[in-house]
Amino acid sequence: MLSYRHAYHAGNHADVFKHLVLALLMQSLLKKEKPFFILDTHAGAGRYHLGSEMARKNREFASGIERLWEVANAPEAIGQYLDAVRTTNPGRELRWYPGSPRIFRHFLRPQDRLVLSELHPNEAREISREFAGDRQVRVEAADGYQTLKAQLPPKERRGLVHIDPAYELKDERRRVLEALADAHRRWATGIVAVWYPIQDRATADDFLRRLKKLGLPEVLVTEFCVMPEEAFRLTGSGMIIVNPPWQLDEQLRQVLPWLSTQLGVGGQNSWRVEGLVSGKTQG
Ligand SMILES: C[S@@+](CC[C@H](N)C(=O)[O-])C[C@H]1O[C@@H](n2cnc3c(N)ncnc32)[C@H](O)[C@@H]1O
Repeated sequence: MLSYRHAYHAGNHADVFKHLVLALLMQSLLKKEKPFFILDTHAGAGRYHLGSEMARKNREFASGIERLWEVANAPEAIGQYLDAVRTTNPGRELRWYPGSPRIFRHFLRPQDRLVLSELHPNEAREISREFAGDRQVRVEAADGYQTLKAQLPPKERRGLVHIDPAYELKDERRRVLEALADAHRRWATGIVAVWYPIQDRATADDFLRRLKKLGLPEVLVTEFCVMPEEAFRLTGSGMIIVNPPWQLDEQLRQVLPWLSTQLGVGGQNSWRVEGLVSGKTQG
């Protein structure tokens, strides 16, 4: 039985980091005219009202997007992500937070396609409503891992798969790694972006060790932590990017120090950008 609701966490530091990386990936896809395909296997509700009871419960957005909403000196690389957030908030006030589907939709051109998969019945209902009548977006109320098998390889031959589960199941990391390997087998040139939580270092390191064993040729790992490790707390998160676009690593190295100063708690923060094969580390 699924109980996770993303509305409790919408716009927190992990969302900001994840959606910033997705916005950078989208900008690289936009460099060519040819159509691209996006699959979001764990889509959520699409966008979240920050005044809702769920969002107000712990006000996680207050230490995430709210801190960036009015900054004047954001680096250029972050500007496109913030534009996507502004599109969801036509007024001056920050009222809504766009989930990954809305971030992706912001960047689509008429020739591009987005497929969203969501298993939770409430979220699936909400996201179907959110994109009703949008001919470029298809919503599947279905298991994202099955949707991945059904959709890959896409006819466009270029694009991105985003795998962003809630990690509420014990074997979720195993399922994610299997899906990653499967996605790469079906579509060797596609970009695959996987989000993972960092609560304790040992679990994250074990996950990355198992990822390494898959032997995928081009993998970038990036992490963003806003505080030192603390029991039972989401102190940061990471993204695994298979087939990272050229210069994504450099863009992240430029932008993450700035993001750290904005979102770090008590000056305690860290970030990392590492090519998994080459073993280069920084941060
Ligand atoms: C972390 S949230 C997604 C957030 C969203 N990607 C974003 O960035 O705005 C994970 C979502 O996956 C859904 N979910 C859980 N298991 C799933 C599965 N097997 N297939 C598809 N969706 C699933 C949950 O209901 C939840 O809405």
